[in-house]
Amino acid sequence: MSSGMSPAASDGLAFDFARLDTTARYKLMSGVIVPRPIALVTTMSEEGVVNAAPYSFFNVFSDDPPLIALGLQHKPDCTRKDTTRNIERTGEFVVNMVDEALARAMCDCAAEFPADIGEPEALGLALSPSTTTRAPRFAAAPFALECRKTVSLVFGPNREILLGEVVALHARAGLLDPQTLRVDFAAYRPVGRLFGDFYTRQTDIFAMARRTPGEIMAARGARTDPA
Ligand SMILES: Cc1cc2nc3c(=O)[nH]c(=O)nc-3n(C[C@H](O)[C@H](O)[C@H](O)COP(=O)(O)O)c2cc1C
Repeated sequence: MSSGMSPAASDGLAFDFARLDTTARYKLMSGVIVPRPIALVTTMSEEGVVNAAPYSFFNVFSDDPPLIALGLQHKPDCTRKDTTRNIERTGEFVVNMVDEALARAMCDCAAEFPADIGEPEALGLALSPSTTTRAPRFAAAPFALECRKTVSLVFGPNREILLGEVVALHARAGLLDPQTLRVDFAAYRPVGRLFGDFYTRQTDIFAMARRTPGEIMAARGARTDPA
């Protein structure tokens, strides 16, 4: 066990991140912060090869401007992955969201094919043209977000966090109500990442309305109005 664990914790375990090695930090961060959505990112190389790779250090961070973030880790020798290099060169990428039907292909896109071999072509995955980016999208993706790089924050020799602005969104027919813009989660069937080889389906959804302070206190049997 990494030396960062506190032996004094009586009500569970406590970890001092300054004393943890990178493996322990990775295990804790990616095992605890779950489930994470998966961005299956398509990019275009200088030679016109379409690259695809999954990224679960990914989420939405703003709707105005519409920003998403990707946590791009470099390879062990600190050289950049194909996705990172292609975005750096072109300033654009497509985030393909992953549903249950696309999950196996998403995972296979993480295989380390050489840069001159595109995962979609090697795996026989159909692509559709994008409207604003040269990088195409997966024809089978439930949703695809065309993005432009906004800024890249570099943390040491092997990490970077990239913010991208969404410029267009494609939705497969039957997943989104065009009037209300509400997503039909039962039809979408998104897949999230837990840790390592473990993933999750969103098949046990529950509703919970937000309450006012008055409603909360009334439910607790307490008064909020002056006595
Ligand atoms: C589900 C899943 C999530 C992943 N998330 C990340 C991530 O957030 N950041 C990262 O650097 N690599 C991540 N990886 C590993 C990359 O997908 C892998 O290194 C891939 O080969 C990179 O391909 P590229 O060189 O074509 O960009 C993930 C792999 C899987 C299977």
